[in-house]
Amino acid sequence: MKKIVVLSASPRKNGNCDSIVEFAKRQYSNLESIEVDYVNIRDLKNIKNCIGCDSCKKTKKCVHKDDIAEVLNKVYEADGIAFISPIYFNYPPATIKMLIDRLYVFFDPSKGFDIPKDKIKKMLVAFSFGSGPVDEYDRVANTTAFNFMVVGVNDHKTIMLGNQNDKNSFSDKVAKEPEFANQMKSLFDWLAE
Ligand SMILES: Cc1cc2nc3c(=O)[nH]c(=O)nc-3n(C[C@H](O)[C@H](O)[C@H](O)COP(=O)(O)O)c2cc1C
Repeated sequence: MKKIVVLSASPRKNGNCDSIVEFAKRQYSNLESIEVDYVNIRDLKNIKNCIGCDSCKKTKKCVHKDDIAEVLNKVYEADGIAFISPIYFNYPPATIKMLIDRLYVFFDPSKGFDIPKDKIKKMLVAFSFGSGPVDEYDRVANTTAFNFMVVGVNDHKTIMLGNQNDKNSFSDKVAKEPEFANQMKSLFDWLAE
């Protein structure tokens, strides 16, 4: 059975990123061939940042035993990752950067970013934002997926959702534009294939 982790990063409750997660939940609840873990970074109580101690390079374990360590194990085991985040000052928010830095435990300097292609591990990066530059955020999405290469990600797609300042922007668009809803659906289907 395929394992998917839906990792969401919005500090705001009931906003667009939460609506995207709900969209994924509705879609995935009909699929029996996958097991899905939903993790919202704002629900984690005990989170610590990477302190660059390099201990993990000797032991392959992080010195921190916190909620991020548990999430990272799920992300490592998963066949697919959905990364759903708002843009705050041109990047995903600080809380999720804490998790990204902790990917260092999986970074093997002797292999670098040379990830074997025999097993495909997919990532869907969805960014919700206001009126900032889409091209720039597309680059940030590529970099985000690139960072997750250390857990084996070697294929990714992005969803750029601009003009989403209102809490209901995403759910309104899904309700009013069937073509948009179908596009979203096919991207979440792709992740689960
Ligand atoms: C602190 C903060 C910084 C933001 N920075 C940007 C930005 O740099 N570019 C942009 O287009 N939108 C920016 N926004 C708007 C959010 O990205 C946008 O409202 C997003 O849809 C919020 O997601 P949510 O509804 O899940 O909270 C910012 C919002 C906040 C609160």
